[in-house]
Amino acid sequence: MSPTASPLGKDLIGLEHLTSEQIRTILDTAEPFKEISERKIKKVPVLRGKTIVNLFMEPSTRTRISFEFAEKRLSADTVNIAASGSSVQKGETLVDTARNLEAMRIDMVVIRHWASGAAAFLADRIPSNVINAGDGAHEHPTQALLDLLTIRDRLGAIEGLKVCIVGDILHSRVARSNIFGLLTLGAQVGVCGPRTLLPYGIEEMGVKVFRRVEDAIEWADVLNVLRLQLERMQGGYVPSLREYNRVYGISSRRLDAASRETLILHPGPMNRGVEIDSDVADGPHSVILKQVTNGVAVRMAILYLLAGGQPEKAEAAKQGGVDG
Ligand code: CP
Repeated sequence: MSPTASPLGKDLIGLEHLTSEQIRTILDTAEPFKEISERKIKKVPVLRGKTIVNLFMEPSTRTRISFEFAEKRLSADTVNIAASGSSVQKGETLVDTARNLEAMRIDMVVIRHWASGAAAFLADRIPSNVINAGDGAHEHPTQALLDLLTIRDRLGAIEGLKVCIVGDILHSRVARSNIFGLLTLGAQVGVCGPRTLLPYGIEEMGVKVFRRVEDAIEWADVLNVLRLQLERMQGGYVPSLREYNRVYGISSRRLDAASRETLILHPGPMNRGVEIDSDVADGPHSVILKQVTNGVAVRMAILYLLAGGQPEKAEAAKQGGVDG
């Protein structure tokens, strides 16, 4: 990989400050990388010699495994660290952990952390590239990018679409990253959920607020259904799971009552029968597993670009034809 400047800068912390050109560059670069995962031998030498640490201080299935597949398919050397079993349990700080990793000569850190701002905090203190894999309620940029790619695959363009995010917006880093990315690419964005789960002043982000999920479904081309964070139930944000499903659950009955079809996304993990019914999650308008597949290509694109790969050479790089 040649040491050219990345079009994304050193790190990927969020979508809030990315331009539409930078977002399109990531999505366009992901396109050629999709094919690698369809091969019998899913490996190209694009990141050969790079060492990447996946530092996950919160649970994750999709994001951690997707990053690990993306790294391995690009031939990077990877190490996984979780809070449990590491010296974090002995009280080591995030920066000390990262500096010790740097002392072993790493190139990139993918971090998931419970604290909003943890990824930016780390990025300011270590020379390695830092990729935010979800920090507190702040941002989850790679999730939003794979959502954007999946919507673009199915509906052609993001500009002009109406996308409504349904559920726990208050605690959701996925919602924030989606709102930033969708608005930057020219979509109209709606949000819908109980008053207790909508941040005060959310309209100031430039989104339309729906009180009734039926109105949101009627308005939207795309519904991005968020997990009801069950750990929040003790906070009294909703009366009961059954009540939430009755008022806000995405069911085929509600979708069939609308005058047009709606594409269904969900970032996972799903609570079937709470925010989404199984026949919708597994139904013809759902692209939930397509999101997961696209996640690997999007993460490959981000790793490639941050390592200095040039967008216009991604096609040749994945054939092993050029050095990044
Ligand atoms: N969508 C998402 O972030 O899922 P995980 O928590 O399993 O990574």
